[in-house]
Amino acid sequence: MSGVLINETVLRDAHQSLMATRMSTEDMLPIIEEMDKAGYYALECWGGATYDSAIRFLNEDPWERLREIKKRAPNTKLMMLLRGQNLIGYRHYADDLVDKFIENAAKNGIDIFRIFDALNDPRNLQASLKAVKKQGAHAQLAIAYTTSDVHTIEYYTDLAKQLNDMGADSICLKDMAGILTPAVAKDLIPAIKAVIDVPLNVHTHATSGVSQMTYLVAVKAGVDIIDTAISPFAEGTSQPSTESTALAFNELGINTHLNIDRLEKIAEYFKSIRNKYLENKTLDPKILFPDPKALIYQVPGGMLSNLNSQLRDAGASDKYDAVLNEVPNVREDLGFPPLVTPISQMVGTQAVFNILTGERYKMVPTEIKDYLKGNYGKSPAPIHLEFRQSIIGDDPVIDSRPADHLKPEFEQLKEELGNLAKNDEDVLTYALFPQVGRQYLENKYKEASTEMEPIKIQARYAKSI
Ligand code: CO
Repeated sequence: MSGVLINETVLRDAHQSLMATRMSTEDMLPIIEEMDKAGYYALECWGGATYDSAIRFLNEDPWERLREIKKRAPNTKLMMLLRGQNLIGYRHYADDLVDKFIENAAKNGIDIFRIFDALNDPRNLQASLKAVKKQGAHAQLAIAYTTSDVHTIEYYTDLAKQLNDMGADSICLKDMAGILTPAVAKDLIPAIKAVIDVPLNVHTHATSGVSQMTYLVAVKAGVDIIDTAISPFAEGTSQPSTESTALAFNELGINTHLNIDRLEKIAEYFKSIRNKYLENKTLDPKILFPDPKALIYQVPGGMLSNLNSQLRDAGASDKYDAVLNEVPNVREDLGFPPLVTPISQMVGTQAVFNILTGERYKMVPTEIKDYLKGNYGKSPAPIHLEFRQSIIGDDPVIDSRPADHLKPEFEQLKEELGNLAKNDEDVLTYALFPQVGRQYLENKYKEASTEMEPIKIQARYAKSI
């Protein structure tokens, strides 16, 4: 056990988990050069909800952010989170779109693609894996970690071996809810390591308060890479703190390859950024406290706050506990899917409907029906026939790879977009987020055409907030 590599998440998961992905590019760029010299294995800086948030809330070009980060970090790998066939959107896209998206992401600077499927159905990773390989980039295939009767050590080792044999360059055990405990890690990590011959990365969240212990056990058990966040954006629903991890591991003789002086400068910088977001209430300090209940409900922090606001909007905050108790029931009905995007939203909404209507499955969202028709892939445990029929009747159920049923769509989307499609990136924005994407592009080109000259990037970043 000579060392462990560290991914820094402050540019993606940390602010996605703590403040709904609202960190702006101008708050990131001034510190990237310093981050590039700190000794990180990779900077996770793109994908997940960053694209959606950039065009929907920040009026920013997500591609421009990626290029600007790349320019300032020539020595450190850049990593993105990709939801397999869902890319960074919420439905299954055709293979040609997956290919185009990955081609453009790689060209603009992504080195490592962390790819997961919400159902852990390896067929939903095939197209992305092939596209990443075509670009000569690193394909990290991820396992969404969850707990249920079917999620045994054997389940995870079988899956890890499959991903290894498919051609993964590394494998990630992705614990989005922060529910991986030290005791489980102690058994699970060596079991996975024994069946794979590529590096293993563990990703967890500090949500429940046990993550530092889990990392220590995981590293002692042979994990190669872990994910942390610089202290001002660490802990709570984010990752454990980078500096604390580095200091503790270094003292134990576990080399993290990180330069503590540089980490301090980075932390100093992000402290002022955090203060700004605390002052304008983008960052709610409540979310920084550990929530041991996560271990009991096994529900990701983001989902808890979503449920909370859904119920508040419906004037039914008093039903919060009832809904939380209904979540595991819905999950069982659906064959124990991991609670990760987009499944977490679907399960949450169904649980809310079941409680608010007073009758289970009286109202069923289209997405749940699609799920029951096999359009999202194979559920971890089989779904009871009677239950399935009670929702979708005799509608056909597919058991092949869902994307095999999708026709190529890139050219058609390009045509639909007409004049607004100046390049592949525009078509992808529209493909992934049809309404918001079109609106964003209309604004972008309206703005540009009224300018005397093309918008200078420095001018945009110098704009006051
Ligand atoms: Co995460």
